[in-house]
Amino acid sequence: MKTLFITLLMAFSSMLFAEESIDSLRGSHDLESMSQDATVKKMAKDGDPIERNYVQQPPLIPHSIKGYRVNLNANKCMSCHSWKNYKAAGATKISQTHFEDRDGNALAEVSSRRYFCQQCHVPQANAKPLVGNNFKPLSAISDK
Ligand code: HEC
Ligand code: HEC
Repeated sequence: MKTLFITLLMAFSSMLFAEESIDSLRGSHDLESMSQDATVKKMAKDGDPIERNYVQQPPLIPHSIKGYRVNLNANKCMSCHSWKNYKAAGATKISQTHFEDRDGNALAEVSSRRYFCQQCHVPQANAKPLVGNNFKPLSAISDK
């Protein structure tokens, strides 16, 4: 009975919203139509590490990551950033905080919470910001 009620409710609400258009950062479009494609931006050239804006910020990626795969079989990022390989690659070694589970227990491998690096670390492109931002770090823990 409960499932039937929920199904009916869902059917009704989808009928209600069917005509509406959605406003997103990519522009507005009808719910029924495909959204606009994201423009593919050219990634910035490889450079030096980018200064962080606050203490716990995941550092931005200062190099192209075109073609770098992170999936069940392999993690391309780790071929340079792992503790085994970072020296030879001249890369920053992956943070020790990435070897902890959510209860703070130490792990022997990168935590599954940290496996998909690009959830937090992003490459850079010369693009206009989508939204304004006047963030300032706490002065007590910043040298800015
Ligand atoms: C071919 C080797 C290589 C691969 C593969 C690679 N990196 Fe890097 N990465 C580097 C090097 C070299 C640096 C710059 C180190 C320097 O100049 O101090 C760097 C810098 C970074 C930094 C900045 C660190 C800091 O302290 O500011 C981040 C974040 C990063 N990479 C993330 C990634 C992610 C995520 C991937 C996978 C999508 C990846 N890298 C794949 C070599 C690599
Ligand atoms: C859930 C978010 C998240 C994910 C996923 C993640 N990181 Fe990070 N990373 C951070 C944060 C936050 C920091 C800065 C604070 C710290 O060290 O924990 C950081 C720091 C780093 C640093 C700089 C370490 C240093 O000594 O300054 C490197 C290199 C790095 N991460 C690489 C990676 C790689 C490679 C992956 C994928 C295997 C990855 N990270 C996945 C959030 C993340």
